[in-house]
Amino acid sequence: MKITVVGAGAVGASCAEYIALKNFASEVVLLDIKENFAEGKAMDLMQTSSLNNFDTKIIGSTNDYSKTSNSDVAVVTSGIPRKPGMTREELIVINAGIVKTVSENIIKYSPNVILIMVSNPMDTMTYLTQKVTGLPKNRIIGMGGALDSARFKYRLSEALECPASDVDGMVIGGHSDKGMLPLTRLATRNSVRVSNFLSDESLNKISEDTKVGGATLTSMLGTSAWYAPGAAVSSLVHAIACDQHKMFPCSALLEGEYGLTDLCIGVPVIVGKNGIEKIVEIDLADEEKEKLIESALGVKATNNLLNDI
Ligand code: 2OP
Repeated sequence: MKITVVGAGAVGASCAEYIALKNFASEVVLLDIKENFAEGKAMDLMQTSSLNNFDTKIIGSTNDYSKTSNSDVAVVTSGIPRKPGMTREELIVINAGIVKTVSENIIKYSPNVILIMVSNPMDTMTYLTQKVTGLPKNRIIGMGGALDSARFKYRLSEALECPASDVDGMVIGGHSDKGMLPLTRLATRNSVRVSNFLSDESLNKISEDTKVGGATLTSMLGTSAWYAPGAAVSSLVHAIACDQHKMFPCSALLEGEYGLTDLCIGVPVIVGKNGIEKIVEIDLADEEKEKLIESALGVKATNNLLNDI
């Protein structure tokens, strides 16, 4: 399995590292526009291979897309990250042009690729890529919900004082501070609803902390986070590479599912060798349905900004 990661910044490099550590890919191509940057990151990572026992070959490239030829999966992390105080939506003007060019270049050399979109505003970038490339909808996946759900599980485990591996939960909706919808009602610890252990007040706090998970880290780090985003992407790539049929909430093009059309937004999907194998429609409570519709309106408003660019 050959994987391309576009953007050798912190998220792209973490993603390449986690993919290599899991040792399921034959080759990772790390590509960046900055001269020699991806080559340097690739060399640094390759010098960990004997220490970390992986056989994945990581190569770097300065904007030479021919090196990405015949990739099975490409991860797009290109563009600028947000700075403290910025919303993901504010990045659209710069990132839309970059993501469009990157996606077109990837498809040119890898017509059968599955694309995983990371660049923000992630749902709109996933939608834009869908429009620009015309790829079948199973082959374009937005990674936001996988990351937001990991942050949700972390917050739940903190409040429950238990390992995150005891916890299950999902965040659906848009990958934005206002649009995320942590499904606290359905979250469990070892099959027991978390509401058995945590008060409504505590669950509300977990939900709010989850929604601003990225913003909190951006204000602490001065730029957006990379370990959890990199790990979330590598889990998606792993699910594709090993045809796991694992369920993640991801941004997918909806055509009537959840009563929504013509947008990409986070919903539970099954990820396997064909990318999105299936969109899973779960029964939402009325309040959750209303919040998802509100979130969809927010994503559509950001999508509409594409018309002005
Ligand atoms: C985040 O939430 C990068 O959007 C990403 O950290």
